[in-house]
Amino acid sequence: MEIKETIKEYQIIVNQELERYRKKEDCPEKVLNEAMAYSLMAGGKRLRPILLLQTYQIFKEDYQKCFPFAVAIEMIHNFSLIHDDLPAIDNDDFRHGKPTNHKMFNEPTAILAGDALLNGAYQVISKDLQNSPKEDLPFKIQAFAELTYAIDRVIAGEYVDTEYEGKEISSEYLEYMHKNKTGEFIKAAVKMGAILAKAKEEEISRLASYAERIGLTFQIRDDILSEIGDKDILGKPVGNDKEKGKCTYVTKYGLEKAEQILEEITDQAVEIAKTFGEKGKFFEDFAIYIKNRNK
Ligand code: IPE
Ligand code: IPE
Ligand code: MG
Ligand code: MG
Repeated sequence: MEIKETIKEYQIIVNQELERYRKKEDCPEKVLNEAMAYSLMAGGKRLRPILLLQTYQIFKEDYQKCFPFAVAIEMIHNFSLIHDDLPAIDNDDFRHGKPTNHKMFNEPTAILAGDALLNGAYQVISKDLQNSPKEDLPFKIQAFAELTYAIDRVIAGEYVDTEYEGKEISSEYLEYMHKNKTGEFIKAAVKMGAILAKAKEEEISRLASYAERIGLTFQIRDDILSEIGDKDILGKPVGNDKEKGKCTYVTKYGLEKAEQILEEITDQAVEIAKTFGEKGKFFEDFAIYIKNRNK
């Protein structure tokens, strides 16, 4: 199957799962619940949960067992996007072709909707832990630890991003920022899938080194798209990184060099994916999909 078809198929599966957690009751915080659903169901690509489910399937078939973790990772991703768009951070007005959360609702609501999505993810996982057979618990707890580690890193990366706005950044710090704000969460998705499938240490670390690379290429491509992307396809603003003085691979190295780095790291990721043979096919294609994505 073509990678784009696989992604579409799994987007539907992930969306169905996410839909199950929508809070619909009439209560004083009804609008807050609507704000959470507004961002969560706005049309994200679902790449992190898809990566988690695909990684699990290298080893095992019953991927439905991972749904709570897949849901949690997407909730947290959306928390990070809502907060990333806030006036205090990136001050962006559009995402997924729609007004950002604080524009659609208001700033306090957006802050709280982000908080609630983060905590919602913890609730989904803690409920799953309570309902899990004892023999699965060590693996689920390890996957949960990966997740909390990754969130810590996303926050650190976002801090570096805001701190260096309008300032000169070293190559080392730029790579650090990208690996943390974006890479670690993608790496966690892959590692969690492998851990939940009870993969061997060596397999987990080989997958982690693949994911580390696509985590970085994901953000480099994001930087390139912020420069030359089509805002209608992307659904978010184009051309404003420079204006804001954002540190990106394009502002640091120029477009051509950024594309060259993207190419090199993608090749490395593809090589690692190949070591998984037939089972690595999705991951080979995924690395190339990330390099070429226009959305
Ligand atoms: C956007 O991530 C934020 C970055 C880490 C660059 P995605 O492009 O995966 O976001 P959605 O959910 O698909 O919109
Ligand atoms: C996104 O970084 C990283 C996180 C949300 C943690 P960016 O600010 O570069 O991503 P976009 O372009 O707003 O999606
Ligand atoms: Mg940002
Ligand atoms: Mg942003």
